[in-house]
Amino acid sequence: MRRGSILALIGIGVLAGAAATAVALFLPWLPDVASEERARIDDVFWFTVAICIVIFALVVAVMLYSIVRFRAAPDDDSDGPPTHGHTGLEIIWTLIPTVLVTAIGIFSAVVLSRNDAQGKDPFRVNVTAQQFSWSFQYPEAKNLTTGVLRLPVNRSIELYFTAKDVIHSFWVPEFGQKQDTVPGIKTQLHITPTKLGTFDVICTELCGLGHSTMRSTAVVMSQAAFDKWLRSQTQATTSPNPAVSGAAVFKNNPCGSCHTLQAAGATATVGPDLDKLPQFAQEAGQPLEDFIRTSITDPNAYIQKGYPRNVMPPFSSLPKDQLDALVQYLIQSSKG
Ligand code: CUA
Repeated sequence: MRRGSILALIGIGVLAGAAATAVALFLPWLPDVASEERARIDDVFWFTVAICIVIFALVVAVMLYSIVRFRAAPDDDSDGPPTHGHTGLEIIWTLIPTVLVTAIGIFSAVVLSRNDAQGKDPFRVNVTAQQFSWSFQYPEAKNLTTGVLRLPVNRSIELYFTAKDVIHSFWVPEFGQKQDTVPGIKTQLHITPTKLGTFDVICTELCGLGHSTMRSTAVVMSQAAFDKWLRSQTQATTSPNPAVSGAAVFKNNPCGSCHTLQAAGATATVGPDLDKLPQFAQEAGQPLEDFIRTSITDPNAYIQKGYPRNVMPPFSSLPKDQLDALVQYLIQSSKG
């Protein structure tokens, strides 16, 4: 092989590799990293991408070089020389991919087993999935139940999943892992959040008409802020002040991810606008308080025009004091 050919191949390969590297590094392919587990998964991703870039550069170099160098003359209609295989080349192009794929497999297996392993002193949260909402229960805080997942940063978290109806799947992109929730089976997931912030909790298993609305929020807080929040919540549920705890019940349940309510700063439009509750109650021909209470515990009893049936889950398991507080809060808020 001539020296010029080798230089040309290296030149094309470096250019192709640089272009692929730029595309890999400078486009935002992945969400932010917010957990130890996600960081490990990203390591596997970048390891695989690096291998792909090298192979891409190699293939592009040989291909472009061959297209230019071995092009037949315009009036040359003859066949090329017959080829009967090349044992040396075949061994090489079998061995190299075998080694690379095995390396990716071993790396992935190590990351999987480390991500499955529970960390020291884990904090447990029970997650319940149902059409179409998430609820989070804290056994270490008198089984406090909320609609927003709050977690302390840099602590090993154990999520235990229960599905009430069909298969759902828990996913926070920034945390990296997904876990199916299966009726009748206990599933679990370990997460060690490493970044303060607010992230989307998404259902990634098509679970029915309201699947796209089955979202919640994960808030990662400092340990001090988390402890303070836990304390305030365990007190709030026994607070005698209905206006205060009603707002908390609204915030701690997924109401705001589907409905608009100005008083709570909620602006979602999946379900009816709660600022118009008095008008809706009038249209339904029911007293406002009864209308709101029934709409929470048995949402299919009356369906607002223009909205589908079976999207809102019944919140019939809400403790009575919380339900009362929420109803009063909604009456006050919607009357302006
Ligand atoms: Cu639950 Cu999709």
